[in-house]
Formats: sequence, structure tokens, C-alpha cells
Amino acid sequence: MATPCNVVVLISGGGSNLQALMDSIGTGDVPARITAVLSNRADAYGLRRAEQAGIETVVLDHKAYEGREAFDAALIQAIDARGADLVVLAGFMRILSAGFVRHYEGRLLNIHPSLLPKHKGLHTHQRVLEAGEAEHGCSVHFVTEELDGGPLVVQAVIPVRPDDTPESLAQRVHVQEHLIYPLAVRWFAEGRLRLGVAGAELDGEPLPASGRSIRH
Ligand code: GRF
Repeated sequence: MATPCNVVVLISGGGSNLQALMDSIGTGDVPARITAVLSNRADAYGLRRAEQAGIETVVLDHKAYEGREAFDAALIQAIDARGADLVVLAGFMRILSAGFVRHYEGRLLNIHPSLLPKHKGLHTHQRVLEAGEAEHGCSVHFVTEELDGGPLVVQAVIPVRPDDTPESLAQRVHVQEHLIYPLAVRWFAEGRLRLGVAGAELDGEPLPASGRSIRH
């Protein structure tokens, strides 16, 4: 059997996406293993999820470092010590330095709760409602130096209903996140997904600018 893809997951909070990844890899169908879960917050519930699954956890408190560069250098050291082939940002609420992003170019994925390039940044569900959008969703993308701006891998699209609230949208988008993030990690682990010069490629073919689209 080929060597599994070593995945390190970075979190700051509840870790429901981490859970979805652990569940997906736990089926034995994905040639990957999560070697460690790192958090910048000791109280992140996702750390408990990892412990329960017998996965190593590491806490690096950003407040203990003098500036972003120093924190990111410590992060790189911790990640590389665990031999990461892929780094998965799963609700990691820190902006990463250009040096960090370059270090992991082509092996750094993020999930964002909007149909990028729309609604980068925070409070996406509220902003979708304010803008009167008919559709919303979530996106998995390779991370580049532009915040929430890297090449898209896959998007799940859901309709916005007339009675939706930020909370109801968040809930339905989360369900989709738990489907598309494990899918993207599976593609990467299987060697099917890579970052080419012109963007994300799946099975050697360039993906559309919006990534693979899954509509509901
Ligand atoms: C998700 O909404 C994700 O899109 C965003 O952070 C949130 C993390 O949620 N990047 P969880 O900790 O995985 O539940």
C-alpha cells in the first residue's frame, strides 16, 4: 500500500470540520492520516475531539509570541516536525504571513463560508442576506498570499430561502462544509488534486475558476 498522506489540521474553535475529516479518514477509504491537530487556543473544543480520536494535539498561543512572524515561525516548526504533506485550515482564526503561505504553497487548503470570490472575510451569512443574494454556500481553496483569494477547488451552492436568518444559513452551509472539505482532502491524498501554474487541477485537468461546483 502507498504511504498515506500526512495531514496536519489547524483550528481555533469547535472543530466540526475537523470532525468531518476524522470521520471521513476513519472509514479507511482515504489514503491519509491526521498526524496532529494544532490550535492557537487551549480552549478550542476541536482539541478534545482530536484527543478522543487519539490524535496528537499541540497548542501554540499566539499571544506568547512577539508578532506574527515569530508565531508563524513556531507554527512552521511544529507542523514540519510532524511531517505534513498537507496542511488543512479548519476554522483557524489567524491571518498567516506571506512566508508561511509560501512555505506551504500547493499543500495548504482552507474552507470559507461563502461562494468566493464573493464575501471574503467575516460575517458572510449576514452579508449574503443584506445583499439579497439568491444563492450562498462554501468554498475550499488553495491558500495564497491574498486573504480568502487562492485558486478554488470545490464549492457547494445552496439556495437562500425567504425566511433564512444568518443562523439558519450558517447551519445549512456547515452541513455542506462537512461534505466538500473531506472530498477535497480525499482528492489531494489520492494525488488527484494539485496546484498547477494556472490554478487548481483535478486529474491533470484545470478546474474551472469557481472550482468543482456541487449544487443543491
Ligand atoms: C467554518 O465555518 C469555516 O468555513 C470557517 O470557520 C468555521 C469553522 O467551523 N473557516 P468549525 O470549527 O469547523 O466548526
